[in-house]
Amino acid sequence: MHVAEMDFEVASEIRDRLAQMVANSDLGYLGPLPELTEAFSGFAMRRWGWDTASATLKLATDVGVAAVELLRHLAKPGDRVLINTPVYSAFMKWLDEAKLIAHDAPLQLSGDRWQLDIDGIEQALADGVKLYLLCSPQNPVGTVHTRQELSEVARLAKKYDATVIADEIHAPLSWAPFTPYLSLGEDARATGITITSSSKAWNTAGLKAAFVMTQSDQMRQKLAGLPEAMNWRASLLGAFSMVTAFESGERWLDQTVETIQERLALLRSELAAKLPKAKLFAMESTYLAWIDLSAYGMENPQQQLLSDGKVALVAGEDHDPAGGYGQFVRFNFATSETRLKEAVSRMDKVLEA
Ligand SMILES: Cc1ncc(COP(=O)(O)O)c(C=O)c1O
Repeated sequence: MHVAEMDFEVASEIRDRLAQMVANSDLGYLGPLPELTEAFSGFAMRRWGWDTASATLKLATDVGVAAVELLRHLAKPGDRVLINTPVYSAFMKWLDEAKLIAHDAPLQLSGDRWQLDIDGIEQALADGVKLYLLCSPQNPVGTVHTRQELSEVARLAKKYDATVIADEIHAPLSWAPFTPYLSLGEDARATGITITSSSKAWNTAGLKAAFVMTQSDQMRQKLAGLPEAMNWRASLLGAFSMVTAFESGERWLDQTVETIQERLALLRSELAAKLPKAKLFAMESTYLAWIDLSAYGMENPQQQLLSDGKVALVAGEDHDPAGGYGQFVRFNFATSETRLKEAVSRMDKVLEA
């Protein structure tokens, strides 16, 4: 239950497109891809009312490569980068790769929902942090940051002359209204860069294609020195699977978001019945549950669940450069009902023993 991919069949539209490309021996290098700009624009407008006119898209091998290239380009070794823990564990690896230092403004728990701490974010920016790696929606807590919060982020980024790299890879899997950072007006477009792909929502991460998107002249100028070859290092199959997903993958996506919500309800009821001391939070996006197991008082629940229960989860401390959240685990519930129930039963045997 650890790696972030779904145990669901890929959309038939994407499988057909790939099969056709293979049948035609259409497996060469990527060329310019105006189809992607058009397909994503249509999707962004239908889904989020986001007008992407004047957007510039650059391909990248995956979102991780896009992030590392941007971090290297926008900062110099030793610079600090703002993050909000708990956050996707690869954020820390990307920062290490670019020799940068994480500066944390942790999410705050409000009721049973994790949310951005706008005061903490302002403090960091006022303290001179110039780059912000934002996870929107947030893996692992499944929070869809609100329009109001993100508008505040844009206002602060402008005020303190900071750049926001918004990783929006989970956005299509949201069931609460998602606000794309660049849709928020002039301050956001002047300060923001979006990195995303269809690969997470349509379950094609192995195909290797993503893109970097900007929507202002200031940002285009800022990114002018990015390695030109970055654009060509994506895969042709990945690139056309993105085009197909955004063009004709919404029926599949809607069904998948529905299934994910059903599985989340099942996870809640299974936990309530078998692991009543486990705490699951409110979430509005994606299929990764952040579970607090501290009431069980175990030193390292993730390790014990793996060794004694044979359930693979992601350890909480992987989501924080300071190693906090040791009593938490991340649980991928995009799987069959049977497997989900089996995982909770195995956890029950270890934790309630
Ligand atoms: C927030 C976030 N960004 C990026 C990725 C990985 O993207 P890629 O495989 O394109 O590097 C993930 C994978 O789970 C993720 O959760």
